[in-house]
Amino acid sequence: MAGDKAVAQVWASRWVFILAATGSAVGLGNIWKFPYMTGVYGGGAFVLMYLLCIALVGMPVMLAETIIGRRGRHSPVVSLQHLAAEQGASSRWAYGAVMGLVCGLLILSFYSVVAGWSLSYIIDMGKGTFSGISGEQAGAAFGALTADPVKLILFHTVFMLMTAWVITRGVVAGLERALRWMMPVLFLLLLILLGYSLTTGHFMQGVEFLFHFDPAKVSEGLLPALGHAFFTLSVGVGSIMAFGAYMPRRAPVGATILTVGLLDTVVALGAGLALFPIVFAAGLEPGAGPGLMFVTLPVAFGNIAFGQVMGVVFFVLVAVAAWSSSISMLEPAVAYFSDRHAGGRVRFTWLLALVCWVLGIGTVLSFNQWAELKFFVSGSDGFALWAWGVEGGKTFFDLVDYLTSRIMLPLGGLIFVLFAGWILGRAVLREELEVQHPLLLNGLLLLLRVVAPAGILVVFVTELLK
Ligand code: TRP
Repeated sequence: MAGDKAVAQVWASRWVFILAATGSAVGLGNIWKFPYMTGVYGGGAFVLMYLLCIALVGMPVMLAETIIGRRGRHSPVVSLQHLAAEQGASSRWAYGAVMGLVCGLLILSFYSVVAGWSLSYIIDMGKGTFSGISGEQAGAAFGALTADPVKLILFHTVFMLMTAWVITRGVVAGLERALRWMMPVLFLLLLILLGYSLTTGHFMQGVEFLFHFDPAKVSEGLLPALGHAFFTLSVGVGSIMAFGAYMPRRAPVGATILTVGLLDTVVALGAGLALFPIVFAAGLEPGAGPGLMFVTLPVAFGNIAFGQVMGVVFFVLVAVAAWSSSISMLEPAVAYFSDRHAGGRVRFTWLLALVCWVLGIGTVLSFNQWAELKFFVSGSDGFALWAWGVEGGKTFFDLVDYLTSRIMLPLGGLIFVLFAGWILGRAVLREELEVQHPLLLNGLLLLLRVVAPAGILVVFVTELLK
């Protein structure tokens, strides 16, 4: 069986893992999704829940994925199969990774559409379309883009081709070289944007919005915060597990993933701190939804010195950050199929990318032609699986986002963390974690075995009881 052959490559150092994992984690989730979800779910309460979910659930799941990947040394599905066999446990654990692989494809389908928006904004920025623009005009420009399915499909296609192309080449070599300079530049531009936010005169209003805690809003934002914690850290799918398979044998796992988690959180909070003052200064709505970043950034760049150039650079980096993330969504599925059938990597990549591309059309249309098509509608006259032209319910995009972020990611994470905590066993974990101090080891075990699984279950149950 081809799957019995362990991966041949091991990265030169844990820094490459940090780069790859950070490249995967930092993406549209931080710059696009986190600010708009904070807006929709009312600010500070959501941010607090999000930070708690990162620390108590997201990071333990990342730890679990890294350990499983490094010990399994295969694609996520095969790694789980092997480790389960080694421990005398049921091979059904591997279904967690199968679900993850499907989830990665579903996420990629809409991620590619949104990344396509940023490609379109690179061009518009470069043409100077946004110079001196007001909040209202920026909103109209975004509305015009999303109303145009042909344009959206075009950019979605380009982005999907970019993603598939890297995967066919193999993720290791190209990724490392590119990320070494892209990540620092992204941080730098975020700092510049923060500088602009400080000049708007609404900076403190932004801070207040992000950090003012309103207990009444906690229950509404709890499941979204959990789902987003998974999304932003790229955990629950097996992406980090797939990267863990290339990690050097001896490397401090805990410190390594802590670096990734901190960088990811800093970028998300930085993006929020940069965007909300602009939102308030331009008289825009913080709860604007998915268009938030695409409306506020043009306002900022359209009204500062060298804004046109900086705007182009910024959207290039957003696209690149999305690119290094999208790769990691496709990788677990491709790795699995090429684990099974040696030599098929290129063929599988194009086939799976095609599947995602077709699904992505549904997301494209949910912003225009299908805007009235709603799923999971519960209204005054009962529940309908789908309906046309009604209030409430979810568009196709909302539906895929909901199924993946709110259900599949937490569920996948639960399976991984339970597997690492309870199936791998104490001896294996002590060996993998490389922590000497018994107190620290017990603390980590407690996180993996109890805190993280309980956290996920509590959120699910709270949601059901609502
Ligand atoms: N974390 C990425 C972001 O914030 C998205 C992402 C990449 C992802 N790989 C993933 C999300 C795997 C879930 C699962 O943009």
